[in-house]
Amino acid sequence: MSEIKSSYTSDELAAMSDEELARLGTELDGVTVAYRKERFPVENDPAEKRAAFGINVWFALSVVLGIAFVAVYLFWPWQYKHLEDDGLWMYTLYTPLLGATAGLSIICLGVGAVQFSKKFVPEEISVQTRHDGPSEEVDRKTITALLNDAWKTSTLGRRKVMMGLAGTGAALMGLAVVLPLGGIIKNPWKPKAMGIQGDGTLWTTGWTLVEEGEKVYLGRDTAAIAEEHNGHYSTQGVNRLVRVRPEDLDAGAMETVFPLSEEMVNDGEKYDADRDVYEEHMHSVHGPRNSVMLIRLRHEDAVKAVQRDGQEDFHYGDYYAYSKICTHIGCPTSLYEQQTNRILCPCHQSQFDALHWGKPVFGPAARALPELSINVDADGYLYADKNFIEPVGPAFWERKS
Ligand code: FES
Repeated sequence: MSEIKSSYTSDELAAMSDEELARLGTELDGVTVAYRKERFPVENDPAEKRAAFGINVWFALSVVLGIAFVAVYLFWPWQYKHLEDDGLWMYTLYTPLLGATAGLSIICLGVGAVQFSKKFVPEEISVQTRHDGPSEEVDRKTITALLNDAWKTSTLGRRKVMMGLAGTGAALMGLAVVLPLGGIIKNPWKPKAMGIQGDGTLWTTGWTLVEEGEKVYLGRDTAAIAEEHNGHYSTQGVNRLVRVRPEDLDAGAMETVFPLSEEMVNDGEKYDADRDVYEEHMHSVHGPRNSVMLIRLRHEDAVKAVQRDGQEDFHYGDYYAYSKICTHIGCPTSLYEQQTNRILCPCHQSQFDALHWGKPVFGPAARALPELSINVDADGYLYADKNFIEPVGPAFWERKS
């Protein structure tokens, strides 16, 4: 090639071959190619075929593992199994298999790509000196030529199988990232069977059972655990939840209570030492929207309490029941201060006024704590006479405040 000039006309550039333009580009950029050697100068060299086969194996493995990931994600039994349940070991393998197939698929794709660049991209040693200033037209032309040259010399253009396998492997790898997001998309209003934790929709709770004609008592958590009988432990006759009477609370006291439906009661005159309702009681305690603060205001404060419109009869005398789930982002608002009648959420210091229907008076929470309507039955036990009338917990469109 002739002497390097600082600029070229369009005709001069058009007259150059890709190789000449590539070389010109490197030299105009101050790059000197000190050494360059094709890996397989002779086409269809047996060594080239062996190298291509090896790389195809890596990409094929990536494809197979990617498909295996999708198959495991879609069809492997993933539902939780308890100890001693049938299919426990299959369930146990679900997560490791997802990780192994996705991880190995990515590794195979990576190994294939590295092998390709080591075995087919020409060996080259170039030296470049830095320069300042913007690129000129000649640079743009020459970089295009360089890319064309790289494409040609890489031989990718004629390796359809390798390109197909690598592309499919990359697509499946992307799928491995995107597919699990599908599991996050759920219909929050799709109900399951009604139980002590509600029916699975966002605003049902254990207290919702009232709507099925049951009486739901306010249950105190005794923290009882299994007892030893004849050398083995059993929860038979052990009550985790017991009904609460108004006189169980002192004035100015607060107690966390959980829904206790009539059929789960096993205390007082209904106690049967052979019954085992422990598991049901624990389901109630663990219900994410079940916990309620039962507060007995001091009488001199209770006379000053202001009722919310439509909730005038929700309290029973000096007793008020508010959802314990903070309306900010759902922490338990566990701290009741009897001197100020404030309920404090320890997470971000929201405060709610127990004398003003649980409305927020400080902190980030912007909505009142939902109030549960309570009463006392003929036997003297506190119960909820209807469900919450608005969703509990953080913001919902359906909330009143
Ligand atoms: S969760 Fe209660 S203040 Fe943030």
